[in-house]
Amino acid sequence: MENTLTIPYHNCAYDDLSPADRTLADKAREATYLSYAPYSHFKVGAAVLLSNGETVQGSNQENAAFGAGTCAERCALHYAESQNPNATVVAIAIAARGTDDAFTHQPIAPCGICRQVLIETQKRAGHDIRVLLCGHDTVLCLDSVRHLLPFTFDSF
Ligand code: THU
Repeated sequence: MENTLTIPYHNCAYDDLSPADRTLADKAREATYLSYAPYSHFKVGAAVLLSNGETVQGSNQENAAFGAGTCAERCALHYAESQNPNATVVAIAIAARGTDDAFTHQPIAPCGICRQVLIETQKRAGHDIRVLLCGHDTVLCLDSVRHLLPFTFDSF
C-alpha cells in the first residue's frame, strides 16, 4: 500500500510577519554577522525564543577539522538549554547569508542532525516548537518540528 505524507506550513512574506515573528527573524538575521565560516563562507544565524521571554542567538562556528564545527541551530539550542534549563524553547528562526553576503533568496532549512536535536528539544519542552525558515523575502512557518522530521528516531 502506498502512503503519502503532507507537510503543513505557511508561506509568509517577510514584511507580513507578526511583530513577534519579525523580531525573531531579525535576530536570526543579526546572528549571521556573528558566524565564523572561513571555509564555507555560508553564514547561518539562529534565534531561539524561550518560554521565559528571552531570546538566544547562535551562529555556525566552523573549524579546520571540519567535523568539529557546529551549525547555528545547535549552537543556539544547546546554549539556550544549558543556560536556561527551566525554560522551554517556544520557537526558532533560521537565516543565512551566502558568499555574496546577501540573505539567501531561498528559506534556509536545518540539516538532519539539527532536526534530530530540534525534535528532542521539542520532546523536552513538552509542547510544539514553531520554526521560521527565513529567506530574503519569504518565510516558511511550521507549527511543529514534527513536520520537519517524520519517521523520527526516538530511543526512549
Ligand atoms: N549550517 C548551519 O549552520 N545550519 C544548517 O542547518 C545547515 C548548515 C552551516 C554548517 C557550515 O558551517 C555551513 O553552514 C555550510 O554547510
